[in-house]
Amino acid sequence: MIKGIKHINYINNLSDYKVTLNPFNVIIGYYIDNVVVGFLDYSVMYEKIEINYIFVIDKYRRKKVAYNLLKYIMDNYNFENITLEVNINNISAINLYKKLGFKIVGIRKKYYNGIDGYLMEVKNDNFSN
Ligand SMILES: CC(C)(COP(=O)(O)OP(=O)(O)OC[C@H]1O[C@@H](n2cnc3c(N)ncnc32)[C@H](O)[C@@H]1OP(=O)(O)O)[C@@H](O)C(=O)NCCC(=O)NCCS
Repeated sequence: MIKGIKHINYINNLSDYKVTLNPFNVIIGYYIDNVVVGFLDYSVMYEKIEINYIFVIDKYRRKKVAYNLLKYIMDNYNFENITLEVNINNISAINLYKKLGFKIVGIRKKYYNGIDGYLMEVKNDNFSN
């Protein structure tokens, strides 16, 4: 089950990533037996969505948790495009995004402590103004 997360402290203990709360941010979790096994942090700025971070706990990886979290926002927003940055060495995440139709559209030089990042984007053919 996918739903919004209000207990940010819990999320902040799952990985090194720390959620920043602002009016644009949304955090959803993938729940199994009422426990969050993965979360997605994204920002909605009118017709544009930015993925800030996605994380799945080790034990639940390769079970489509991340895929379904991303699919959830793709199915539930009238977005024009979704963008994100990913470390060029993060093959699992790059494969995940490609599977959902994201394309590499740019390089962010030294974005991750000296390591380059890819800027990836997916456009929505059904977007309506
Ligand atoms: C990246 C991450 C979120 C993927 O989560 P996940 O729930 O295991 O991914 P899914 O099961 O939904 O995988 C969907 C697709 O992504 C790709 N993928 C996921 N993990 C992969 C891996 N270890 N190796 C290669 N491809 C992988 C595959 O194409 C996979 O489809 P398949 O299983 O049919 O081959 C997870 O590994 C994670 O939390 N990593 C640490 C945090 C991180 O790097 N986040 C991204 C920040 S930009």
